Amino acid sequence: SGYWVVVPAAGVGKRMGADRPKQYLPLLGRPLLSLTLRNILTWPGLAGVVVAVSEDDAYFPHLAEAKHPQVHRVTGGVERADSVLAALNFLATRESGETPVLVHDAARPCIALEDIEALLRADPVSLLAQPASDTVKSSRADGDRAVVDRTLDRNRIWLAQTPQRAPLGLLHSCLRRGLEQGAAITDEASALELFGHSPQLVPGRRDNLKVTHPSDIVLAETILRLRYAPTED
Ligand code: CTP
Ligand code: MG
Repeated sequence: SGYWVVVPAAGVGKRMGADRPKQYLPLLGRPLLSLTLRNILTWPGLAGVVVAVSEDDAYFPHLAEAKHPQVHRVTGGVERADSVLAALNFLATRESGETPVLVHDAARPCIALEDIEALLRADPVSLLAQPASDTVKSSRADGDRAVVDRTLDRNRIWLAQTPQRAPLGLLHSCLRRGLEQGAAITDEASALELFGHSPQLVPGRRDNLKVTHPSDIVLAETILRLRYAPTED
């Protein structure tokens, strides 16, 4: 019983441009992936965690959480979807197709427990997302420039976050079939959408940021420091 969490952590962190993959950069003095895993290990009802790391990853074994009995390691792939599929292949050999799976980016250490609780109360096929606050333009090329093609209806625009949730069997088959078709699969919801599913959008906190660029490190540290600071009253 309980649900599993899949953590894709096999990226190279190109946009971060650091000397190592961003999931191993220090945040408040601890490797980012350590913080994300420590956070996940506090979630109520957790059955286990599968972390997908790259084949030549020399950092993961040094994390304290790598030895945790609920943490399992698999080898990730070229794209994020390949890494998630590797973790689902592992789970499919030991869990039933009904088992709920939450896929959560290694690069989102600031996920808050209240968001997890909201996702666990939501539809079995669902994801955390943030209603857009900026006006969103779609573009087209005009020579070597981008120009506005049209303005999207902001009231209907959501920015996808993670975790994204689905039953193991359904997610496994949609992801596998989607990849076989050569579809561009940037998140789990997009794989489910390919086969006619309509995941529920669960409003998440704005501070569940994905650490992507150098300035995000400082932001994430500030968010975590404020959240866990002892309250003075
Ligand atoms: N990821 C993965 N396998 C890949 C690519 C990405 O497991 N082949 C993971 C990353 O480690 C990250 C998450 O998917 O935790 C979200 O991806 P992203 O933020 O794009 O990370 P990177 O791909 O590492 O960064 P970049 O795109 O800047 O190279
Ligand atoms: Mg990437």
